[in-house]
Amino acid sequence: MAISFEPLRRHFVAAISGFDMREPIDPATVRLFEDAIDRFAVLVFPSQQVGDAQQLAFTANFGPPDIGRKKAVKTADSRLPIEMIDLSNLDENGYVIDPHHRRVLSLLGTRLWHSDSSYQRPAAKFSMLRAVTVPPWGGETEFADCRAAYDALPDVLRAEAEDRFAEHWVHHSRSTLGWEPTEEEIRGAMDPVRWPLVRVHAGSGRKTLYIGAHARRVIGMPLPAGRILLRDLQEYATQPEFVYRHAWQPGDLVLWDNRAAMHRGYRYDLNHIRDMRRTTVLDPASVHERDCGDDGICTKAPTAAH
Ligand code: OGA
Ligand code: MN
Repeated sequence: MAISFEPLRRHFVAAISGFDMREPIDPATVRLFEDAIDRFAVLVFPSQQVGDAQQLAFTANFGPPDIGRKKAVKTADSRLPIEMIDLSNLDENGYVIDPHHRRVLSLLGTRLWHSDSSYQRPAAKFSMLRAVTVPPWGGETEFADCRAAYDALPDVLRAEAEDRFAEHWVHHSRSTLGWEPTEEEIRGAMDPVRWPLVRVHAGSGRKTLYIGAHARRVIGMPLPAGRILLRDLQEYATQPEFVYRHAWQPGDLVLWDNRAAMHRGYRYDLNHIRDMRRTTVLDPASVHERDCGDDGICTKAPTAAH
């Protein structure tokens, strides 16, 4: 059966049919998916019923693995392989963790709009999230179309964002909820990195907003002025017309392009099991992107990796 793509919004999110993720895929099929990701930013693979090893094998077709926060924070994540990020509220034995436990409080950071691993260079390219067990209510994941939002931005807001950079830091988003990193976590944190607020999406050539909860300041702007700019941009980009909400069924896998979409998890009853497992690939090309110094509006040429 041929693979087909059914758009769920006009230029955003497509549902895939005619594909079985348990089978190995050839380079032409990988390219087909990459082209679809470039167009739609989010691909929904309904009821794939794959295991961890198959998810990891599928992921490896798209680039080198990203382990994200695991580089900065020691977690008891032994339930899953190292390249797999545990978004569940389960301990290593598969029991629901006390909702007040630090690990669950830390996970609340994923309820804020964000782009995975924007706090590192290279950042993340694609993420793949798979539902194993879903709660009876809530626990959806929302995606915002940052390219469409950029296209529709009011001129004044676009002019303010253009040519500016934000600094992203691994512990910032959770800190805004009052979660405090330990001394050890602060010492182990990666250095903050800077990304343009407006980036060109490599696969489509379209401009897109790159913001989200890891962004802690705008370079060259007073802190409150920069943060309110980030908020205004986010509020604009996450209006209902730009947002798709995925209601999970066990076995679903959703792949998204972190360069073109933001996402967030939605509230659920933390006393119920929600078992979600993510794999992520890096965006090696992002290392060559423009960076900037500490001076106001930044227009510097690309710099080497750091
Ligand atoms: C993620 C994430 C939100 C969710 O997997 O990166 O932010 O709905 N997930 O669990
Ligand atoms: Mn995420």
